[in-house]
This record gives sequence, structure tokens and C-alpha cells, in this order.
Amino acid sequence: MSIFSLVTGRPGPSGFGSATTAEQVTEGIDASDVTAIVTGGGSGIGFETARVLALRRAHVIIAARNVDAANEVKHLILNDDGDARVDVLELDLCSMKSIRAFVDNFIALDLPLNVLINNAGIMFCPYQLSEDGFEVQFATNYLGHFLLTNLLLDKMKATARVSGIEGRIVNLSSIAHLHTYKEGIRFDDINDQLSYSDKKAYGQSKLANILHANELSRRLQGNQNLCKKSNST
Ligand SMILES: NC(=O)c1ccc[n+]([C@@H]2O[C@H](COP(=O)([O-])OP(=O)(O)OC[C@H]3O[C@@H](n4cnc5c(N)ncnc54)[C@H](OP(=O)(O)O)[C@@H]3O)[C@@H](O)[C@H]2O)c1
Repeated sequence: MSIFSLVTGRPGPSGFGSATTAEQVTEGIDASDVTAIVTGGGSGIGFETARVLALRRAHVIIAARNVDAANEVKHLILNDDGDARVDVLELDLCSMKSIRAFVDNFIALDLPLNVLINNAGIMFCPYQLSEDGFEVQFATNYLGHFLLTNLLLDKMKATARVSGIEGRIVNLSSIAHLHTYKEGIRFDDINDQLSYSDKKAYGQSKLANILHANELSRRLQGNQNLCKKSNST
């Protein structure tokens, strides 16, 4: 999507644009056969995504660092529709230990998984390292979602095989992916503090989200148990 279309909301070839609401995009869809995980579903874009998926009858798992806030969101959704299926599981994408625990807890629920929406993100943070020792925006926005996706991939393939419903993995990116370091991704200097730029580090993590989606798509295309990719800006 061009900046012009982004700002004006002019619809693209799909008929949708930046001014289209989630309710408009999903109008008429019955998602009652769908189970979806939305990371960062306790606020912002993730909340709206979770709300509208639940409105369309999907079973929504809100993966949240702030479980109290996510539970409030769950109650808001249930207040509107007592039949909505919404659960909250704790997930801190900045911690590989927490990601592994989240996946263990999700697998223990023995639910299918059709849709994974890698939405959570942090933006323009001061330099900081995650508990695993990675620059925190790269760790949260990209590495965390990369690990989460890898750990859930077998479950998604198994669900697609049994249900016959093609899976979907959505990585939330940003127009900021165009404004990264001159090397694109600084594979050799990911933690360099001296040249750290909060904005370029954010752009770098969002570029990584796109490359991740592209590579997933390349690897999964033609796979009988396909899980398609898509990017969002
Ligand atoms: N808003 C925009 O204009 C815009 C534009 C382009 C792209 N995006 C992308 O869209 C996505 C959502 O943005 P937003 O505007 O909705 O942001 P937001 O309102 O700040 O919400 C971000 C969500 O991510 C969660 N989160 C942050 N760090 C986390 C962690 N370590 N583990 C788990 N969850 C974590 C937050 O949870 P807590 O409450 O615990 O912090 C929050 O629920 C992001 O990926 C962003 O890069 C947004």
C-alpha cells in the first residue's frame, strides 16, 4: 500500500483500504470452525482483531503479557455477546522461557489452531536487552514471534490436515520497515548500543517481520498442509 493510499484510505485491488474496518472486512463470514491466537490482543489493534474474530464466532485465544488487561478485554467482549469464545493465556514475547511456557499451555488445551496473528509489538524504545540478551525491539517484535510461530507450526499443519481448512499466519509489519539501518538487518551488530537508533531498530524489526512472512510462504507453498502468510502494515 502506498503512503497516499494509507493516508487517504483509498481502497486497493482487494476493495479494502486503510479506512476499512475489521467488521466490514469480515462481514458475512462465519468463522465458527476457526481457532485463532492473537498476540497482544489485550489492547490496540490486537484488541479490535480479537473482538471482531469473536464476533464472527471464532474461538479466540488472547496471548497477553498483561493478563489483567486481557481479562478485562475478554469481559468486554463477553458483555457484548455472552456466547463469544475468548480465552486468555500469558505470553511475554520478550522471554523465550515465557514463549515456551505459553506453547506448552496452549498445547495442553488440546485445541485446533487455524490462525496465528503475530500482532504484539513495541515501538521506539530506549536501548535495552531482553532477558535472553537481544536488543529488545528485535527480541519482542521479531525473535519472539519467530520462535512462537516455529513452535506452533506442527499444530497448525495438523489442524489443516484434519479440518481441511487452510491455516493463516499473519505478521503485523509497518511502513517503518522502509526506515531501517543502511544494512537492512544488522545481522552482525544486532546489539550494538553505540549506533543504536530507536526508530531504525523498530524499522529493522518490522523488516524482519516481512522477511519472516515471505520465507514462511516460500517454504509452505505447495505443502499439502499449507499455512499461508500475509503481511500487514
Ligand atoms: N498503531 C499503528 O499505527 C501501527 C502502524 C503500523 C504497524 N503497527 C503494528 O501493529 C501492531 C499493533 O500495534 P498497536 O498500535 O495496536 O500497539 P499497542 O496499542 O501498543 O499494543 C501493542 C500490544 O502488544 C503487546 N506487547 C508488547 N510487548 C509485549 C510482549 N513482550 N509480550 C507480549 N505482548 C506484548 C502490548 O501488551 P502490554 O499491554 O503488555 O504492553 C499490547 O497489547 C504492532 O506490531 C505494531 O508494530 C501499528
